[in-house]
Order: sequence, then structure tokens, then C-alpha cells
Amino acid sequence: MTVHFIGAGPGAPDLLTLRGRDLIAACPVCLYAGSLVPEGVLAHCPPDARIVNTAPLSLDEIITEIAAAHALGKDVARLHSGDLSIWSAMGEQLRRLRALGIPFTVTPGVPSFSAAAAALEAELTLPGLAQTVVLTRTPGRASAMPEGEKLAAFGATGAVLAIHLSIHLLDKVIAELTPHYGADCPVAIVWRASWPDQRIIRATLGTLNAMVGSEMERTALIVVGNTLGAADFDESRLYAADYDRRYRPVGAEPRFPEVS
Ligand SMILES: C[S@@+](CC[C@H](N)C(=O)[O-])C[C@H]1O[C@@H](n2cnc3c(N)ncnc32)[C@H](O)[C@@H]1O
Repeated sequence: MTVHFIGAGPGAPDLLTLRGRDLIAACPVCLYAGSLVPEGVLAHCPPDARIVNTAPLSLDEIITEIAAAHALGKDVARLHSGDLSIWSAMGEQLRRLRALGIPFTVTPGVPSFSAAAAALEAELTLPGLAQTVVLTRTPGRASAMPEGEKLAAFGATGAVLAIHLSIHLLDKVIAELTPHYGADCPVAIVWRASWPDQRIIRATLGTLNAMVGSEMERTALIVVGNTLGAADFDESRLYAADYDRRYRPVGAEPRFPEVS
């Protein structure tokens, strides 16, 4: 018996890895974080699967469900939205499973920041403008931020910020970032990226109406950075005609001569 932790993606049922889909289809028990994992993803479960929404359960109750499946020798598909490496609460579950000696696997998923960037048709890292994307959040009721991980500290670097779990604090985000990025800096809100009712708002830190935060509720990302919508940026050297590289040797004495 194995517990398969699976990144369920940003919402669209087909934005799931083939491995994730096949594991869901093979598991007689499915535990899913119902606040963000859409019903469409559950369509991959076998028809007679035990499907449990863990949104109202405590960690103890979730582990009790898993231990019961373990006792019956039934594999479990454990679904969390997006990818498991960020804000999935997988860490604390793995710690319990290790202590109980229950085997598990981890299958990555499409994170919401990738789905948001796709919705914006944006490469977030553009040569000469920004080469770093910070995945962050503001403090919440359940999670304080470690000292040093302040928006202003990240803002001071000029990196592109993908701010999660913070749409209800949009006014604070704007106020904290404007001194660092300037009022002209582009910002985009992507609400329910990849869902059928996805919404996008593009503005600048100076023009964004903070009231949109209260209309959108929760499942939204705030993306801030000067690569959003940028047309004036350098081309990558990698594809420059005169750039000598292993797969395209250039010149009389290429650094990576072709081996015949
Ligand atoms: C608990 S975190 C989960 C993050 C997830 N593990 C991931 O990889 O994106 C929930 C936050 O992720 C963001 N989020 C998740 N799904 C989203 C989506 N489809 N569109 C926009 N933001 C999303 C929102 O900021 C939301 O408050």
C-alpha cells in the first residue's frame, strides 16, 4: 500500500501530468483538498473509489483516513492544488507517514504561477529586465512570515513577484511595493487561472484599483514586475547567429567542435 501525493494542477482537469492522472485512476481511495482541487480532476478516479474532501478535516483526521486505507492495503491518491512544493501542507503529512512507516510517492503538478503566466502569455524572465521570479505570500492567520521575508525586501531586488494567498490584502501589497518598483510598474491579477471563468486584470501599481481584491476572493495571483507586457528587451544570446554553442558550433575555431 502506498500514498501517492499528486500535484493536481491549477484547476483545468487536463493540466495534470499523465503520471498523476494514471495514479488517480489506479487508487481506490482519493483524498483531495476540496477548497482548490476542482471536481473535474476527480473524474479520473475509478467509479467505485472512496473520495474524501479533506477541507473540513484536521491533520489528525486526515492521517486517520490514510491509516485506515493502509490497514486495508488500499492505495491512496492524495491531491493538492498546483504543485506540492509550495503551500501544500504536504511536509507535515510526510513527517507523520514517515513516523508511521507508511510508504508514499510524490508526483509534481503544474503550479498556479505557471498557469497564470500562461494566461498572461508572458515569459516572466526577460533578458536585461528580470532574471528572477520570487514565489511568495503575505502573512495569513495560519502562517506568519519569517523575519526577513518581507515583500519590501524582495521588492528591493526588482525581481518579478508572484504573490499568492494575498488578494484580500491587495491595498497593502500595492502600498508596500510602489516605493520599490514605481507607480508605472506593470501588475496583473489572474483569478482562477485555467478555470473556465478565469479573469485577468492588467494595470500598473499606480492605476490598479485595490477594490478588485475584494471582488475576487482567494484563488488569485498577483504578479508584479517590469517584464509583464514588455516589448523592449534584449534577445537571448543563446539563439544569436554568432553565439558559439555545443549544438551550433560557429567560427573557424569553435569552442565545441563537431565530433564526427
Ligand atoms: C494554498 S496555495 C496553493 C498553491 C499551489 N500549491 C500552487 O502550486 O500554486 C493557494 C494559493 O495559490 C494561488 N492559486 C492556486 N490556484 C490558482 C489558480 N488557478 N489561479 C490563480 N491563483 C491560484 C492563489 O494565490 C491561492 O491563494
